[in-house]
Amino acid sequence: MKLKRTLKWSARVILLALILGFLVGFIAYWRSTNECDRKTGAPGNPMKAVLHCEYGGPDVLEVEEVEKPVPNDNQLLVRVRAASVNPLDLTIRGALPLRPFFGMRKPKDTRLGVDYAGTVEAVGKNVTNFKPGDEVFGGKNGALAEYVCVLVDRSVVLKPANMTFEQAASVPVAAITALQGLRDKGKIQPGQKVLVNGASGGVGTFAVQIAKSFGAKVTGVCSTRNVDLVRSIGADHVIDYTKEDFTNGTERYDLIFDLIGNHSFSERRRILNPNGICVMAGIGGAGWHDGFATRLLGELNAYVRSRFVSQKFIAYIAQFNKKDMMILADLMQSGKVTPVIDRTYKLSETADALRYLEQGHARGKVVINLE
Ligand SMILES: NC(=O)c1ccc[n+]([C@@H]2O[C@H](COP(=O)([O-])OP(=O)(O)OC[C@H]3O[C@@H](n4cnc5c(N)ncnc54)[C@H](OP(=O)(O)O)[C@@H]3O)[C@@H](O)[C@H]2O)c1
Repeated sequence: MKLKRTLKWSARVILLALILGFLVGFIAYWRSTNECDRKTGAPGNPMKAVLHCEYGGPDVLEVEEVEKPVPNDNQLLVRVRAASVNPLDLTIRGALPLRPFFGMRKPKDTRLGVDYAGTVEAVGKNVTNFKPGDEVFGGKNGALAEYVCVLVDRSVVLKPANMTFEQAASVPVAAITALQGLRDKGKIQPGQKVLVNGASGGVGTFAVQIAKSFGAKVTGVCSTRNVDLVRSIGADHVIDYTKEDFTNGTERYDLIFDLIGNHSFSERRRILNPNGICVMAGIGGAGWHDGFATRLLGELNAYVRSRFVSQKFIAYIAQFNKKDMMILADLMQSGKVTPVIDRTYKLSETADALRYLEQGHARGKVVINLE
């Protein structure tokens, strides 16, 4: 009798929670709005920026005039000379699991892009370490625009003189991901055997070079058309995934830097040394592809199962910081890392750039030139 009553009340509470959850979701959905809804008249001091007022494919992108930002006391105003696109920018599609963070019905932040390189045009009154005319690069939301304001203590650093704006703009997200994955998660050491799965893409081309700069012996995995490219950026060995499955080989690795996640926990574990580490950095080239969901679940499974074995399988999200940006600038200055640029588009062609990136077969970085 008591059990029956408890079950009845539990069912009522669950039902009420579901109704409340649905109501909150419904209200959040309809209240979700963005600056496109609030726009009144033409900007007083205009600049061009890429906007997406709605969720959708690259077709929703528009280059519009918005108010040019004004730096506060601790900011730099940077005239963007080049930017680059990343798989991250495809959040414009508004995948349902991401909407609670990015806006339920419409994107909260209508601006696009993160990676930029440009010239400092003005500095706030507390800024002492940068001056107008300095050439800089870094990461800032809304970088696909003629100008950005950046806090001076964030990830903005001087551009090495031997790098073009396009090269510097290719660096931030992709190279930070490679650096932090190899160094912090993978604990890379000189002389180690490192395999980079997805060596020909935006992150992979940096990973191969950064791993080499740590003194590792690097094997890159890519398709036939990219074998020469991956070898040219320093890989000691290249495996063509269309001809050979790297998990069937006899080689054992200390570190797998995996940007694709298309092999199971057991397959990858078999080719790792007993204390080896697999850094699970991504699940394939940009855009939706077959096996997307399976790979995601596979990586979750690998993470859990690796808790019970000697090898480690680690996932992470790269974070910007000034120190790492300076390390990357030094690596470029010394010639140890040279960005690989696949294609360059104009700001007005950003939608085409994302359409290309979304195919998942970029060879290095896709850059937007604002000159
Ligand atoms: N953890 C983080 O913080 C973080 C940060 C940035 C990016 N990511 C993730 O890292 C992954 C890679 O990013 P990205 O910017 O390098 O993407 P990307 O530039 O779009 O990668 C494209 C490359 O992936 C290669 N590729 C596709 N399928 C492959 C396969 N089966 N085996 C080997 N290579 C394959 C393609 O080569 P082919 O044309 O020859 O197939 C192409 O060169 C993405 O999943 C991204 O979301 C994670």
